[in-house]
Amino acid sequence: MYKILKKQKIGQGIYELRIEAKHIVKYAKPGNFIILRKNETGERAPFTIANLDNKSITILFNVVGKTTADLAKLKKGDSIKDVAGPLGNPSEIGEFGTVCIVSGGTGCASAYLLSKALKEKRNKVINILGAKSKDQIIWEDKFSNISDRLIVCTDDGSKGMHCLVTKPLEKLLKKQYFNRVIAIGPPVMMKEVARLTYQRARTFVHLAPIMVDGIGMCGGCRVKVGNETKFACVDGPEFDAHEVDFDSIIYRNSRYFDEEQESHEKHHGSCITKAATKKKTPVKQKSKKTISKKKAANKKDIASRKKKKTINKKPVKKKTARKTKK
Ligand SMILES: Cc1cc2nc3c(=O)[nH]c(=O)nc-3n(C[C@H](O)[C@H](O)[C@H](O)COP(=O)(O)OP(=O)(O)OC[C@H]3O[C@@H](n4cnc5c(N)ncnc54)[C@H](O)[C@@H]3O)c2cc1C
Ligand code: FES
Repeated sequence: MYKILKKQKIGQGIYELRIEAKHIVKYAKPGNFIILRKNETGERAPFTIANLDNKSITILFNVVGKTTADLAKLKKGDSIKDVAGPLGNPSEIGEFGTVCIVSGGTGCASAYLLSKALKEKRNKVINILGAKSKDQIIWEDKFSNISDRLIVCTDDGSKGMHCLVTKPLEKLLKKQYFNRVIAIGPPVMMKEVARLTYQRARTFVHLAPIMVDGIGMCGGCRVKVGNETKFACVDGPEFDAHEVDFDSIIYRNSRYFDEEQESHEKHHGSCITKAATKKKTPVKQKSKKTISKKKAANKKDIASRKKKKTINKKPVKKKTARKTKK
C-alpha cells in the first residue's frame, strides 16, 4: 500500500497528490510516469511524475472519469493499492541553450520537473503555460521560480494572454532561435506546435495515448512515428514532433468519444452532485461500466482490423474466380 502524504485541490477539478513511494523516487527522472491502481477492482491509470522529493512522488490530475473522481476523494493518510514505476523513458536533459516548453492543461504536470532539470543544466528556459481559465492554471508560482520567462495564456482571457499557447510561440519563433522546443498537452496543440517549428527548431512532444500495462505488452498505446509503429509506454513518451503522425492519434482518440463523454458526465457531474447530496453510487456497478468502455474500444479496434483484412482479400478472390472460368 502507498500512503497519501498530501492531498490538495489546486484548481477547478485539478488535484495534487503526494504519494509515499521510496522505491520509485530512487530511479525516477523527468519524463517518467507511474501506473496506479486505487484498489483491487480499480483500473490501471497512468500519471506523469510531476515532482519528487527523497521519499515521495507528486502527481497532478484532472477529474475526467471514474478513477480520477475516486482519487479526488482520497484524504491525507489514506492509501493506494498499487503504484508501478518509474515507467517510460526519461526526457533527454542536456545543455541545449534556449529551450521553450509549451504545455497545456495537465500537460503542465510533466513540464515542471522537466523545466527544473533543464534549468539546472544552465539552459535558458521559457515556459508557455495554457489553461481554460485562471482557476485551472497549474503551479504558476512554481514555474515562475524556475523559468527565465513565463507566459500564461487562458482560453477565456481570465488571466494572462487571451489565446491558445501556440500564439505566443508563433510570435517568439519570429524573433528568436530555440535550440529545442518541447510541447506537452492535447494532440491538436502538439500538432500545431510541430507545424510552427517545422524546419525552425528541434521539437519533441510527450504522447499520452490510452495505456493499459505500460510495459509494451498490450499494444494499446501504439502510435505512428516516422512511418513505424511505436509503443508510447516503452519507446516514449517523448518523440520527435516532426515524425509523429498526429492525425492517426487524433482519429483513434475520437473513436472513444461517446464512451468518454458518458464517463465524464457521470463522474464529473456526480462529483459536484455528490458533494451536495452525499449520495453514493455502488462501486462495483461503476467499475463494470468503465471496464465495458474499454472492451467497447477494443471491439471497435478488432472489428476495424477484420474489416481491413476482408477488404484486402476481396480482389484476390475475384481474380482466382475469373481464372477458373477461363
Ligand atoms: C503517460 C501518461 C501520462 C499521463 N499523465 C497524466 C497526468 O499527469 N495528469 C492527468 O490528469 N492525466 C494524465 N494522463 C491521463 C490519465 O491517465 C487519464 O486522465 C486517467 O486514466 C483517466 O481515468 P478516468 O477513469 O478518470 O477517466 P476515463 O473515463 O477512463 O477516461 C477519461 C479520459 O482519460 C483518458 N484515459 C482513460 N484511461 C486512460 C489510460 N489508461 N491511459 C491513458 N489515458 C486514459 C481517456 O482517453 C479520456 O480522455 C496520462 C496518461 C498517460 C498515458
Ligand atoms: S500500454 Fe501496453 S503496450 Fe504500451
